[in-house]
Amino acid sequence: MSEESVYPVPQQWAARARIDQEGYRHMYGRSLADPGSFWLEQARRLDWIKRPEIAGDWSFDEADFHIRWFADGRLNVAANCLDRHLASRGDQVALIWEPDEPGAEPRRITYRELHGEVCRFANALKAQGVARGDRVTIYMPMIPEAAVAMLACARIGAVHSVVFGGFSSEALAGRIEDCGSRIVITADEGRRGGKRIPLKANVDAARAHAPGLETVVVVCATGGDIAWQAGDLWWHEIVADAAPACPPEPMGAEDPLFILYTSGSTGKPKGVLHTSGGYLLWASMTHELVFDYRPGEIFWCAADVGWVTGHSYILYGPLANGATTLMFEGVPNWPDASRIWQVVDRHKVEILYTAPTALRALMKEGDGFVHATDRSSLRLLGSVGEPINPEAWRWYHQVVGGGRCPIVDTWWQTETGGHMITPLPGATALKPGSATLPFPGVDPQIVDAEGKVLHGATEGNLVLARSWPGQMRGVWGDADRFFQTYFTTYRGKYFTGDGCRRDADGYYWITGRVDDVINVSGHRMGTAEVESALVLHEAVAEAAVVGMPHDVKGHGIYAYVTLNGGVEASEALRRDLVTWVRHEIGAIAAPDAVQFAPGLPKTRSGKIMRRILRKIAEGDVSSLGDTSTLADPAVVDDLVANRVG
Ligand code: PRX
Repeated sequence: MSEESVYPVPQQWAARARIDQEGYRHMYGRSLADPGSFWLEQARRLDWIKRPEIAGDWSFDEADFHIRWFADGRLNVAANCLDRHLASRGDQVALIWEPDEPGAEPRRITYRELHGEVCRFANALKAQGVARGDRVTIYMPMIPEAAVAMLACARIGAVHSVVFGGFSSEALAGRIEDCGSRIVITADEGRRGGKRIPLKANVDAARAHAPGLETVVVVCATGGDIAWQAGDLWWHEIVADAAPACPPEPMGAEDPLFILYTSGSTGKPKGVLHTSGGYLLWASMTHELVFDYRPGEIFWCAADVGWVTGHSYILYGPLANGATTLMFEGVPNWPDASRIWQVVDRHKVEILYTAPTALRALMKEGDGFVHATDRSSLRLLGSVGEPINPEAWRWYHQVVGGGRCPIVDTWWQTETGGHMITPLPGATALKPGSATLPFPGVDPQIVDAEGKVLHGATEGNLVLARSWPGQMRGVWGDADRFFQTYFTTYRGKYFTGDGCRRDADGYYWITGRVDDVINVSGHRMGTAEVESALVLHEAVAEAAVVGMPHDVKGHGIYAYVTLNGGVEASEALRRDLVTWVRHEIGAIAAPDAVQFAPGLPKTRSGKIMRRILRKIAEGDVSSLGDTSTLADPAVVDDLVANRVG
């Protein structure tokens, strides 16, 4: 190992490893050398109605572009997550729900109970006319009903589209319309960190922009006051009327399972489409091997179910594996910065999976909050969402894990369905800040700007040279956009949008996005999306948005705004613009800095030179590079002089 800071596989992990270093090499080699038989063998993890006889069938070339996995197989995802466990572990807890309020009673739902709730709600959906292939929007707090709703959709072959509860009514309306869902499942209110989130009121507001929306199913979660509209139904009422038995719908492996909207380089978020067989296999296999999950262990993925991490590692991966998964309604720092560790102790969590941004926020509060708790149940820690800085990595390892627990730093994306570059805890020596090595079946390459493949220790753009079962299958409603977005930058390869370094040991170090996407607190935000929101404001003529370093969020949002003639720049207007973006998109899109700019740096052909804006936002004004090609080089001086920060 060439890097100084290497953490070898701990002795006890090496001794009991399901996959050791040699095992990993062998498995990885086979996955690339003989993918057909490798994947058909792996497919046996799932319970098929008809077992597939073909594995991958794909081409990334334009002339013959297609991606299919296990296409002749048939299965039902919900049956894989529930029914097949009933005989062996029906009375084992499937889902532990830890409420926002620290003193409140948790809920423990067994596989049998969850199965019952899913069947009833599936029948209730059917009674509302929801059929196979219909889209169902889920806009829910972190309560068990969110999981029930997702699984009920999967059971009847409906396609769920979960919209994160932190998105605004405007953003929600856009997503309802885009996928044409006639039904939304929500709650009266959500709870988070002692506050109430007016989910039902947001759905009511979204109705104005979502004319196709007919039915809203409302969980009574807080009992808060809400307005009642025609077409609204209480969850508990429709479930009370529903029959208990609901046979799972036999689905083709390539039938859609869900849509999840994510931000890209262009204005509108795109509906990432995942299908049934390949996705579930990927979620299940990565959950078992990356977390070395053993039956009976308590697994906690501290993400929101509104993001892909929640889909794959709160719900589908763990439940496909018959695990006990924990769902937490609250936030890490409420009532204080001990909360995560208290939840770990309360439920004796063995595997914890969280994001660097949460770790950095907690680290700032001091070690006392961690030391006040026991945490001896922990044996493995995971990280996801953005590169983890080595300082946060060491704190996680030493202070949180007491030096005992390996850290799996998992690189992946909404588009990949599950982990792609990640350590396997019994096989991989760790280097803080590196996502380490590719998971079996993953073929990463580093290319230069022209697409030339770079070998050995190098740095460039990360592409994936072959398909894997968990890969997204399309952008909802826009067949062409999938190919155009991911396969045209480097012909014949999937472009991740990430920069990457590979060291002399072949370890991968993700360096961050190289496109117009900002990673804010581990969540993706498109610069164009925020710009579109800003220019909708009556005071704004033009806006350009870039990322800036932020010590907790990783990156923050820095907006340059040119006002319409006659509008005065003011502190009040600055605040108003931030509120405006919150209202248009949601709190995660709210700019951290707004700079009023009389002009933006543009080339003579009118293209904004973002490179310069990024440098200024980063505070790196000494190396702005060549500005002579600008239409008006003088704007740069004004931007530098009036930098916010
Ligand atoms: O830039 C990478 C970063 O998050 C992006 C994917 O974001 P999203 O689709 O929202 O999914 C987040 C959860 C999987 C990637 O393109 N990213 C994610 N995990 C890591 C990461 N960057 C570095 N290291 C990671 N472990």
